[in-house]
Amino acid sequence: MARGRKTIDSRFLQTCDITVEEFRIEPFTMVIFGGAGDLARRKLLPSMMHLFAEKELVKGFSVLSFGMPGMDDMSYRNLVKDSISEFDPGTPAEEAWAEFSARLYYLTGRFESEESYRSLKEKIREISVPTGKDKYNVIYYMSVPPQVVPLAVSKLKAHGLCGDSFNTRIIVEKPFGHDRKSAAELNKVLIDAFDENQIYRIDHYLSKEPVQNILFFRFSNFIFEQIWNSNYVDNVQITVAEDIGIEHRGAFYEETGVVRDIVQNHMLQVLGLIAMEPPVGFKADFVRDEKTKIFRSIYPFDNDYIDRFTVRGQYGPGRINGGRAPGYREEENVSPSSNQLTFFAAKFHVDNLRWAGVPFYVRTGKRLKRRVTEICIQFKQVPLRIMGRSCDVIDPNTLILTVQPDEKISLRFDVKYPYSGNQIYPTDMVFSYADTFKTGFHPPYERLLVDCMRGDLSLFVRQDSVEAMWEVVDPILRRWEETVPPNFPNYAAGTWGPKEAGILLRKEKRKWITS
Ligand code: BG6
Repeated sequence: MARGRKTIDSRFLQTCDITVEEFRIEPFTMVIFGGAGDLARRKLLPSMMHLFAEKELVKGFSVLSFGMPGMDDMSYRNLVKDSISEFDPGTPAEEAWAEFSARLYYLTGRFESEESYRSLKEKIREISVPTGKDKYNVIYYMSVPPQVVPLAVSKLKAHGLCGDSFNTRIIVEKPFGHDRKSAAELNKVLIDAFDENQIYRIDHYLSKEPVQNILFFRFSNFIFEQIWNSNYVDNVQITVAEDIGIEHRGAFYEETGVVRDIVQNHMLQVLGLIAMEPPVGFKADFVRDEKTKIFRSIYPFDNDYIDRFTVRGQYGPGRINGGRAPGYREEENVSPSSNQLTFFAAKFHVDNLRWAGVPFYVRTGKRLKRRVTEICIQFKQVPLRIMGRSCDVIDPNTLILTVQPDEKISLRFDVKYPYSGNQIYPTDMVFSYADTFKTGFHPPYERLLVDCMRGDLSLFVRQDSVEAMWEVVDPILRRWEETVPPNFPNYAAGTWGPKEAGILLRKEKRKWITS
């Protein structure tokens, strides 16, 4: 039994008795499909090592990597050790590593080979700690290209690796399909082998602490919830800006593009949390029900609307952090005439009673001026006659939830500038995570892995949400496939994107707050 995750500093315990959460993780084997690949080496294995070092893993766990290239357990352990020192600044102590690595195994196999799945079954039985007579807990992690998932899942089912002796969960990485239809097809394969509550669809944004905080902030503060609607809010802005380019993922990005990579999942999930009604409680399905309602309430885009209220872009060469940054078309494994999108901006409407008439402006892109994810809730402007004629415009109150890099919440309001006549001065009231809690966050993958081990689906995405999110973006993708962008690349690396993104707000007498 793993120890409870004790995270609340006693200084923050209030009069109510906050009990430290206790949870039970039973012995399990995590089978990583593609365990020698990039995601496993950069994120999953360093995360497992951390969890082990922090005593968050149960004694009887093991990790079995399955796939190619061919190697034995020893070579795999060396590969993992090298990966941890390359991708994780805190190299583990020798003793912890020795204990951890003894739980790592490798099985060479081809995902299409029947023989490989027979060996997989044997190997799981050989290395796992049973939880009853011939009973094993197994988590399958699909760390493979999306096209491999249906094949692997159907083979798992055919070889009796999803039920009977095996009590299983499966973790699937986005993209979940490339449109609504293919997402539904992928789901058919998954549902044929697993129940919905065994399927953990990862969206790592949901595990970011400031994203999780959105619901706590909204629903535990009466003052904000009262004004969280179209009576008081003028507009909402969500910016997910990255300064990095596509790094070593040219082939993936050529297939995916920014809408499928960020908008259909991370951005819409954040929008869902900002816009949703209070859930009945924090149980996974209660929260997921409310978010799904929001995705279904987003005003459907038609071609005319898309042409007027969306902006697409691709970066050209430019300068970032004092150095030259190549254009998208110069990146490795990218076609020199590619029209793939690296920037997206749009105006959404959530067409329900709470939000009628409030625009939600969303914007995301690669190689933008700086890395920042921010949600700005801008309230309506007060009538200003009282301040006299010199004051026709002021910055309206704005609540800014900064998800990264400097996690904070700030509220902008106006005060009188001292010693002046009637001079208004905007100022900020700020809550900063670092100043208040004086501690860093668990990296997203750690939190998600632990949640899956515990069987907590709250931070994972349900299929109906996935399909509803595709329904939002599918018309845009279709329209953009029909109409070739005439001017790509249309923004220089290191800027805030194409000028049309600024015009989108300016023509409505607003501007992007995040800059
Ligand atoms: C991933 C995308 O899901 O999210 C990447 O595939 C993107 O392209 C990344 O860079 C952004 O995540 P974060 O946590 O760095 O903001």
